[in-house]
Amino acid sequence: MRISFADSRPAHPHALAIAVAPATLSGAGLAALPEAAQALARAAAQASRFDGEKGAVVEFYGETDAAHRRLLLAGIGAKSDFERAGAALVAKLLTSGEKTLVVDISAVAGDKPAEAAAHLAFGAALRGWRHDIYRTKLDAKQRPSLEEIVIVGGGADAPTLWADREAVAEGVMFTRTLITEPANILYPESFVERCRPLADLGVKIEVLDPEAMAKLGMGALLGVAQGSVRPAQLLVMTWNGTGNDSEPPIAFVGKGVTFDTGGISLKPPAGMEDMKWDMGGAGAVAGAMKALALRKAKAHVIGVCGLVENMPDGNAQRPGDVVTSMSGQTIEVINTDAEGRLVLCDALTWVQKTHKPKTIVDLATLTGAMIISLGFEYGGMFANDDELAGQLLAAGSDVGDKLWRMPLGDPYDKLIDSPIADMKNVGPREGGSITAAQFLKRFIDDGVRWAHLDIAGMVWASKPGATWDKGATGYGVRLLDRFVEQNIEKR
Ligand code: BES
Ligand code: MN
Ligand code: ZN
Repeated sequence: MRISFADSRPAHPHALAIAVAPATLSGAGLAALPEAAQALARAAAQASRFDGEKGAVVEFYGETDAAHRRLLLAGIGAKSDFERAGAALVAKLLTSGEKTLVVDISAVAGDKPAEAAAHLAFGAALRGWRHDIYRTKLDAKQRPSLEEIVIVGGGADAPTLWADREAVAEGVMFTRTLITEPANILYPESFVERCRPLADLGVKIEVLDPEAMAKLGMGALLGVAQGSVRPAQLLVMTWNGTGNDSEPPIAFVGKGVTFDTGGISLKPPAGMEDMKWDMGGAGAVAGAMKALALRKAKAHVIGVCGLVENMPDGNAQRPGDVVTSMSGQTIEVINTDAEGRLVLCDALTWVQKTHKPKTIVDLATLTGAMIISLGFEYGGMFANDDELAGQLLAAGSDVGDKLWRMPLGDPYDKLIDSPIADMKNVGPREGGSITAAQFLKRFIDDGVRWAHLDIAGMVWASKPGATWDKGATGYGVRLLDRFVEQNIEKR
């Protein structure tokens, strides 16, 4: 979708949307339309019980600029939610047959018109993303028709502000693509290949292969991978936009299980296909790195993706096996389906030993129990530092990647003690997300600020949301980007 900004409406055929707030529905709010079309607009609004609420759209037909065309009113609500308005318009028009949409925001743009225009463009871009490459027989009427959006009324600074938002949208869309690709296409090595082009943006790409990981003693991660013919990869992406080599980094660490069968503790068949998106944490890290590099964020960030496939073959690890992690701590693998923590623990140890970050945020589709706790509305956050927790909560609520803080504590930690090793990889069923977090906490060095985001319920949506269709949401990219912007760049 091409997005541009203009002072006046283009001459070529287009649908025309007027952004309206509850207060601008009467009076001069519709002044962009000729009188006759204004009357139609008011009638359409009334008939549809539309009062400018955010994300609501009314559609009618009328004449402007000497042509009959599709006209729309797009509500921004009382709090001027341009992102929702942009998304709602695209949801409505994506396969409508229209090729060009013009959105006039003049009446509601207020004193920050460029910001308003950029937000509208952002919502539109995010909602317009599709992954149709495998649908070779898609009916013509189901194919996207919308090619172009022209936003009128954003003023001269709109393109500059949009450039930053566009960077983040690109990151979100990259993540969605990674998450949507099936596991025969996206596996550890091909995940790495998809990320290599980030080098062109100035991201340093390093990859540890199984031999390198074995040398480092990553027995926990490699234990998960040993049941698959796909070699594991530890992907390390570094972005330093500070211009200072000695700037201490922060680290993002993602669970990248490109498919999770459960291993020998095999999952039941129903819904197992969902486990292609068990790399959603790694996907979010990759998308965030792309966003940060594209907008040249003034921050030093290391993104680490632990990439493995969890399969049950003759060489797969067995329940009861004891593995030694890179940290030296030993783990009794009670359940081979609790593999994410085994992957993450070695990735966490590696990044601490190698780069000494003071702050680490890990993201993982770690537990089904997280979905039982919070449903599909909030990611669960576990943190050893109240300031970091507050920063992530704030960033998340700003951008709509909502988080809810969960508890940690010694009584939970005790539940993963093992009679034969330093710990076991599962606790009791109750509090399953918390014991998973406690497991990870055992690998965090003293003095390191750490947050673990269990995003099992957030990566994939069974129904459309504000800025996504059903399917991959891209959760986490905007969150990490905003966290960096607010807390690392603006220090
Ligand atoms: N990848 C799953 C968690 C998951 C489940 C994510 C559903 C998204 C949707 C994880 O590896 C897993 O299998 N966890 C087990 C842990 C259990 C064996 C302690 C679970 O949640 O059942
Ligand atoms: Mn699993
Ligand atoms: Zn998993």
